[in-house]
Formats: sequence, C-alpha cells, structure tokens
Amino acid sequence: MTALDFIDVETPYLIKSTPEGARDFVVPSRMNQGEFYALPQSPQTFKQLLMVGGIDKYFQIVKCFRDEDLRADRQPEFTQIDCEMSFVSQEDILKTFEGLIKHLLSSIKNINVDDFPRMTYNEAMSKYGCDKPDIRFGMELGNLNEVSKHKEFNVFNSSELVLGIAVPNGNNFTRKQIDNYTNWVKRPQIGAKGLIYVRCNDDGSFKSSVDKFYDQEDLGKWANITGAVKGDLIFILSGEVSQVRAQISALRLELAENLDLRKSDEFAPLWITDFPLLEWDDESQKYHAMHHPFTSPKLDQLNLLEKSPEKVKANAYDLVLNGNEIGGGSIRIHDKKIQELMFKHLGFSETEAKEQFGFLMNAFEYGAPPHGGIALGLDRLVAILHGEESIKDYIAFPKNNSGKDVMIDAPSKLDDIQLDELSLKLKSSK
Ligand code: AMO
Repeated sequence: MTALDFIDVETPYLIKSTPEGARDFVVPSRMNQGEFYALPQSPQTFKQLLMVGGIDKYFQIVKCFRDEDLRADRQPEFTQIDCEMSFVSQEDILKTFEGLIKHLLSSIKNINVDDFPRMTYNEAMSKYGCDKPDIRFGMELGNLNEVSKHKEFNVFNSSELVLGIAVPNGNNFTRKQIDNYTNWVKRPQIGAKGLIYVRCNDDGSFKSSVDKFYDQEDLGKWANITGAVKGDLIFILSGEVSQVRAQISALRLELAENLDLRKSDEFAPLWITDFPLLEWDDESQKYHAMHHPFTSPKLDQLNLLEKSPEKVKANAYDLVLNGNEIGGGSIRIHDKKIQELMFKHLGFSETEAKEQFGFLMNAFEYGAPPHGGIALGLDRLVAILHGEESIKDYIAFPKNNSGKDVMIDAPSKLDDIQLDELSLKLKSSK
C-alpha cells in the first residue's frame, strides 16, 4: 500500500455511533455524565472525511468492533485493512485491490491467479443461491420452475421456486446416505421440509422419489437443466425464493465438503458487483442499506431513487474468496442532496440525519471529491490463506461464542464506585 502512495492514518476508537448494520459497543463518558462513546464498527465516516480533507489515498490496519451474534467467521473485535481513494471509479478500486490480493497470494502462497472473474449479485443468487459463491467447483443450481409445475405434485405447484443441483457421481449414494442428507436439510438450522431426489442411471433411465408424478421425459429435462449426467444424482428443494436459495446453497457446500471438492490449497477469488442499494426489512417495516448508507446508487438509475428505491442498484462490490466474503466496499455518495434522500429512505427524519451525520453532510458542502473504497477482513483473509474458515485460531486471545474472554473474565461487573463515577445505576435485582 505504501508503495502505491497510500497514507496510513490512525482514526479514533472513541467515536459516535456509525450505522454499519450491527449494534455498537458503547463506552460511558465520566466527564460527560449520561453520554456515551461508541467503538467504531469501521472507520467509514472518518475515511470519507479524510478524502474531503485532501488525503486522496488512505489505508489503515484497524480494529473494528461489532456487537453481533457470533459465528465461525465473526468476532466482536476483528481487524480490517481499510482503504479509501479519491477521484476513482469502481474499476480503479477493483483493479487496485485485485492487485493487492494477487500480490499476497503470490508472495505468501507462491500461487499466481488469473484476473478475478466478476459476477453480478443477481447472477450469483440465481446460479449459486448466495452472494458469496465458492467457485472452486461447479454444481450450479438449475431453475426447474418451468418443467416441474405442470403435474399434480402440490409441493412444487405451491412453491415460488423449485431448484435442483446435480451431485457428481451421486448415483453411488446409498438409500441411507440420501436419508442422511434429507435429515440434514430438515434440521432447524436449514429448515427445509423435505428433499426430492432423482437418480441418473448408467443406462440413461431415471429413478426418482416423485416417480408417481413425473415421467422419464420430465426427469430428463431436469437432468438437462441441472447439467446432471449418467451416474449423477439430482437433489431438489422448493419453497419461498430466499429460503430455498439459502437452503440449497448450504446443501451445495455440505455436498462439496463431503465430496472433497473444497480443496484448501486452491484459491478462487471473484468480485460480486451490482448489489441492490436497499433491502426491505419486514420486521422493522423499513429499508436497510444493503452495504451502508454512504453507498452511491448507480448514477444512471438516480431517476428511480425518489419513487422506486427498491429497484436501484448500488455502486457496491464484494470480494469473495473460496465462498467467504473477505472484503466489501463501494463508491460513495458525495452529493449532499443524494445523501439526504438516502437518509430519508432509511427512515431518518431530517433532524435525526443532521444530528447523527451533520458533520459529514457539512463537509460535503465544501466540495467533496468523488471517492470510494473497500475494507478487507484481515482475520478472514489470513484464515482462508491457511485453508480454514473459522477465524478464532487466527486471532490472539479471541472471544468465545458467548462473546467472553474467560481467561481474563471479560466482560465483568464494575464495582459500585466505578458505577457511581459514571452515574450508571444497575437495575436492582429483586
Ligand atoms: P463490511 O461491513 O463489509 O464493510 O466489512 C468489511 C469486511 O470486514 C470483515 N468483517 C468481519 N470479520 C470478522 N468478524 C466480523 N464481525 C466482521 N464483520 C466484517 C469481512 C467484511 O467483508 N466500512 C465498510 C467498508 C467500505 O465500504 O469501504 C465495511 O466495514 O471480511
């Protein structure tokens, strides 16, 4: 980064909350009783202010803090390689950071990779059912809607989406193995109601769990669409679009893991582009920014932003490596009016937006350069380079799954004197 003239700037840890989608960890202020700092979920607003201030290439290896449910690839404090550049297009950012990853792969792993493929969000969702596909192996999904809803099989007829996946050499699976996969997709974590299968026999015939409803010609079409050949097995799931996609994409990874198709010494990076700008959240009845509120809409779709915001695509991109999101970024909004409209869609009143982000919008008044950036998850990157997906073994003194460090016993209670100084009173337990 230094060789490319990026300047390493440290940004503060005691800040005001920035909305990156998770909850903030907060720190009470003794000198300003009743007020709180937030620990940064990322240095997002600071790096944008640095661009306004004329630092046109920034980077920082920085701790970020997010109070979110933990998973194998998430820790409450983790490290980003955080970057921002002025006067750039999406293309400049993708090129620069593709260069960084290529450099790391060649200098650390001695592996030279080709230019990274690019896939739009829509393409990734329909081909793989998720926005971070592992492309070290094929097994693309086949949409069977058109060829499965013409018979009396109500499970498919009442489903929004019927998806199939070909399992290479899966016709070898025993009845028991198929039952195990059926039980696997029915576990609450996956939540499917059942799993349909089609065996592709060596003589070109098919044998399925829905033979009562579908003939050989139907099953032949399913094989065509999923790319299944003699000796393969087709697994089929159906249901509501987002659920069935999530279920079959989890099944795809499980199958690939068991078939040893996810080789830890193979590296298959790709860019996912053209994310939707906003996503509707039924629970809060509000739009959420799919990346974050500072992400620019595609400029040629600005006319849709006022009336049909759900149709607008973002100038946002993710870097995916072996089925893991190792980075995400966007070209930013640098126009005060568009930023105000974005806050409005996200449900902020004018006063709330001013109160929370007045400092950024005021800065835009001084003429902000077009800018954009990316942050790479360093812990994830290092884990994946070592062929693992869980980041816990790649962080010194990680927290456990309940967010605790049991060695030093954190978090822990404060004594009454400390609580008094901070004017924090715990509710008395009765
Ligand atoms: P984003 O939220 O996508 O973007 O985060 C960037 C990358 O950080 C990693 N990451 C995590 N790693 C471990 N534990 C976590 N809890 C965790 N959360 C995120 C991921 C992710 O891709 N400010 C924007 C970047 C930008 O727009 O420039 C941001 O933070 O690898």
